[in-house]
Amino acid sequence: MTYKIAVLPGDGIGPEVTREALRVLRAVSQGKFDIQTEELPIGGNAYEQFGTPLPPATLERCLASDAVLLGAVGGPQFDSLPREHKPETGLLAIREALGGFANLRPAIAYDVLADCSPLRPEVLKGADVLFVRELLGGVYFGKPRGFAGEGSGRSGFNNMVYSVPEVERVAHVAFQVARGRRKKVTSVDKANVLECSQLWRQVVVEVAKQYPDITLEHQLVDSCAMRLVTAPASFDVVLTENLFGDILSDEAAALTGSLGMLPSATVGGRINLYEPIHGSAPDIAGKGQANPLGAIATAAMLLRHSFSREDEACAIEQAIARVLESGVRTADLKRGANERLIGTEEMGNLVIEALGATGASA
Ligand code: IPM
Ligand code: MN
Repeated sequence: MTYKIAVLPGDGIGPEVTREALRVLRAVSQGKFDIQTEELPIGGNAYEQFGTPLPPATLERCLASDAVLLGAVGGPQFDSLPREHKPETGLLAIREALGGFANLRPAIAYDVLADCSPLRPEVLKGADVLFVRELLGGVYFGKPRGFAGEGSGRSGFNNMVYSVPEVERVAHVAFQVARGRRKKVTSVDKANVLECSQLWRQVVVEVAKQYPDITLEHQLVDSCAMRLVTAPASFDVVLTENLFGDILSDEAAALTGSLGMLPSATVGGRINLYEPIHGSAPDIAGKGQANPLGAIATAAMLLRHSFSREDEACAIEQAIARVLESGVRTADLKRGANERLIGTEEMGNLVIEALGATGASA
């Protein structure tokens, strides 16, 4: 069995964390299956080399792969580029082309990292939230968009819009994943103000009728933002639209202690796309300090969702937990004096070592 993975390291810390994720993937695959990887440019570096943040060859190779693993895109040097050249435009374009509309973002409060979170341990206890973020619609893609007018008369505008099928398909994903969890879906919207959200809520209520075993609740996005830090353990699956999901999933990083811990998987399209949630972190890029665990956990999601390799996915997740329990920390996670500060590559090495231990006991 050979799996073809298109690897898009991207900008900033993308390459260094992706390298560790790939080493872990290779280690876990030993003797079980083969992984064929192909590295391709995306984002700011692609723009610099090829004049576009998503070169056609990258897209073509991704479409010919079994799964796409991406690091991060963006950086301050690209911020003033026109929209079509921005790294983020390349990312949105590949998301759209691969077609995955449901972005799964788990945020788990590990006991061993409780001191990394600003939340009190008793508030954090048991928090395990899975965001299902709609990824191809809403204000990110709605038209019309743009600028109008001149000088101080200028305006900028975007359009938050969802059609019934767009809400239906992502709602189905949320209800289905809830079946494998604690069977609760919180649908998050702003239905007290936005028509777009009113439609969202109506459609979710309709879809829910096909899942009588799942409890559905609705919550407004503002109060959801508060509840995430006051009662995070009260959530199971959070279903929400693109922009709300973007914001709330970063907020949820406070549960795990660091944005560097969070993985994601985008499913439902032609080819699944896997990316850690953290950005390109230009301030620490190239220094070997970045936390690779988000990228490594993303590799686990890849094995699970694209290749149904549940055992190997779990092995990676357990190895991450073991390594953290042993007291090593990258800079973003370091709090206590009794923890040992390590860099990106050493964290990768230790996960691979722990994998050996896990594999032997399995
Ligand atoms: C994310 C990121 C992206 C998004 C950016 C880089 C376009 O913030 O994946 O959360 O907004 O979706
Ligand atoms: Mn984001």
